[in-house]
Amino acid sequence: MRSWSGRLIEISARVEGSFAALRMTHLLSAFALAACSSPRNVAGNLSEPTAATPLKTAFADAFVIGAAVNDRQVTGKDVRGAALITAQFNTVSPENALKWEWVHPSRGTYHFGPSDAFVDFGVKHNMTIIGHTLIWHSQVPRWVFEDANGKPLGRDALLAVMRDHIMTVVGRYKGRIKGWDVVNEALNEDGTMRQTPWFKGIGDDYVVKAFEYAHEADPSAELYYNDYSLENAPKRNGAVRLIQALQRAGVKVAAIGSQSHDKMDWPTVVQYDSTFNAFAALGVRVNITELDVDVLPPAVRGQGADVATRGAVSRASNPWPAALPDSMQRALARRYADLFRVFVAHRDVIDRVTFWGVGDGDSWLNNWPVPGRTSYPLLFDRQDRPKVALDSVLATAPAVRR
Ligand code: G3I
Repeated sequence: MRSWSGRLIEISARVEGSFAALRMTHLLSAFALAACSSPRNVAGNLSEPTAATPLKTAFADAFVIGAAVNDRQVTGKDVRGAALITAQFNTVSPENALKWEWVHPSRGTYHFGPSDAFVDFGVKHNMTIIGHTLIWHSQVPRWVFEDANGKPLGRDALLAVMRDHIMTVVGRYKGRIKGWDVVNEALNEDGTMRQTPWFKGIGDDYVVKAFEYAHEADPSAELYYNDYSLENAPKRNGAVRLIQALQRAGVKVAAIGSQSHDKMDWPTVVQYDSTFNAFAALGVRVNITELDVDVLPPAVRGQGADVATRGAVSRASNPWPAALPDSMQRALARRYADLFRVFVAHRDVIDRVTFWGVGDGDSWLNNWPVPGRTSYPLLFDRQDRPKVALDSVLATAPAVRR
């Protein structure tokens, strides 16, 4: 099997044009340098990326490290993306393939093509496979909440739909998917329960029921609660109350997922510290489940990741359509270093750090909250080449195994 550096050189060589040739020279020198020095750098004094050590190796003593993957990557249509994933990551989450509207689009019809491809990819490459997500208010077809005449389902009928879905989907991947985001985004920003169709149709014990069904379907699977903006105290406190209620009901929550769709200045490391401490005190683990850092100017108010949010398109909202300026690349690298330093500091409670995407070109942030922007939130660029942020992240690794 070829080394990561060998693969990366081959990938670079496939990119056409003089920039590619320059980049390859740069990468070759970086690898030569990496061979005789540690990849560690001080985040405030960044060197060019070395990419000498895969992320999964660098953080092996801290947590597993992964990415949300798409259909093209797991089916092999995106060869370059698939190679980067297997080289860098040891856990995968499906960006969309296991969402209700994909897997269960109409009553009685399950569509397992994309999710089977996702799970097969993870099994083939010996990765920790995560299920995302069972019960969410978004990307759920309307039929789920209605009877054949379009009337809202009552509690018992809706619970039966929920149970069928969870038993079927979790049951299919029993023993292969290690853990499930059982309920996604059940909380408002103030920490109260979001008035979703699940909440309205079943009542506030819908979360308990979802966890019970998931446990019944695969007693060995880890079960997670997953949400965004948990670093803000009101929502964090709401999550603590929710988990305590689940624990009182006898439900075992393995971990809380902090999505971590971050900005350059939010959340602060102090907010992360408080959040990890609060969750650790509950006796649960923590996963960073959807990490990215938005460098673009804010197009809407607030810090959430509600997929329904839409902003207005303007020239000011998409300032770098061709390339991210060096100064911003370095600022992003410093931001990522700060984040990983706090993740590493809490590695006793953090099991997994998953990026929401692989290369910048595939990120959801190119289309949210403003469609058609050019976003730069990840560690690899639009050609899947390492950014300086990769090096700054590697520099925070507690130990580098060679
Ligand atoms: O696949 C269809 C395509 O056939 C169609 O032509 C096109 C037209 O809009 O839509 C395509 O589907 C899109 C899908 O992504 C695949 O690209 C949907 O419109 C779009 O809504 C969907 O967005 C996803 C979003 O969740 C909603 O499910 C993003 O990719 C995905 O990154 C995002 O992920 C969520 C997490 O699940 C939960 N936390 C927040 C996170 C970011 O929003």
